[in-house]
Amino acid sequence: MTAQTAQPTLATAQPARHPQPTVKAQALAHLIFERPDLDKSARFLGDFGLHPVRRDANCLYLRGTGSAPYCYRVAQADQARFVGFGLLVAERSDLERLSALPGASVIEALSTPGGGECVRLTDPSGFLVEAILGQQSVQPLPHRAALPLNVVDEIPRINATQRPPIAPPEIIKLGHVVLEVADYQATCAWYTQHFGFIPSDVQVLPDGSPAVTFLRLNLGNTPADHHTLALAQGFMAAYSHSAYEVVDADAVGMGQRVLQERGWKHAWGIGRHILGSQIFDYWQDPWGDKHEHYCDGDLFTVEQPTELHAVSPEAMAQWGQRMPKSFTKPVMNFAAVRALLRNLRRSPDVTLRKLVTLARMFG
Ligand SMILES: [Fe+2]
Repeated sequence: MTAQTAQPTLATAQPARHPQPTVKAQALAHLIFERPDLDKSARFLGDFGLHPVRRDANCLYLRGTGSAPYCYRVAQADQARFVGFGLLVAERSDLERLSALPGASVIEALSTPGGGECVRLTDPSGFLVEAILGQQSVQPLPHRAALPLNVVDEIPRINATQRPPIAPPEIIKLGHVVLEVADYQATCAWYTQHFGFIPSDVQVLPDGSPAVTFLRLNLGNTPADHHTLALAQGFMAAYSHSAYEVVDADAVGMGQRVLQERGWKHAWGIGRHILGSQIFDYWQDPWGDKHEHYCDGDLFTVEQPTELHAVSPEAMAQWGQRMPKSFTKPVMNFAAVRALLRNLRRSPDVTLRKLVTLARMFG
């Protein structure tokens, strides 16, 4: 469905860019997880392609090869949990404005890798957001160059072969995080209003309500990843997946081989997404949380308008394995059932009809 065909039927408000956001986030800095076993977490993440940079008594920090001092933080805890993420901001006045928001912390000095200052906020779905200023970047690590491909119109490789190393793919950077939320409109509006996120594409249900929004950073005329954050309608707040950029499609494929050989659980791929266009492959960490390798994503400037599309499993990939039903299946434990019943009663965006439509579509 294109914007032209979808729009006349839409009665619900759609996520939109805010004319005067509190700040414009500049980058996704890191994710924050809690895990009962740091060694197990480090094993998976090492096989996935991240490098440890620091390990304290209760906390593990990992990085990619890019200039970010770290992009993944794992704190020791009894229960596995996704806590939230960090966003870089541009100026001290950004931190001052954010610290004036309801529930925000004061400006605090950081002792995490790269240092800097931080304001802690909680989004309307309960995820922690650390707004960070003045984090010191680090010297990038060397990574293999993208392989020169012999294509029909250009043949750069004569008398030479393709032999990328059989090893975990080098992760260049943390690319995006995808969250499921119950309070969809309020959470989407919070990120557009306070951090300047721009909806690149919105997928809507047949009744016109938004089901998935892909949000990019507003970097003006500097191209930004198609999405740095994506929000999907669910019946409760939950982590969906996070994604990490690798150098080329061979790195995605090598990741699949290495992770498979080391006994980790595959989730979906290899394929190419439609919205964002990335070549992707998804793997589960030891607690069932999905981690994505990707390459060749779209980049948009501030100019690109928001588009609307119909949501469906078919709209998730243009080639490759079809999205398995297990990919979106929630874990229905006691806490989930309680959250479902509670959000059906109180959340303006959670209705039985919507959940039945989503369940029919995605199994
Ligand atoms: Fe993704």
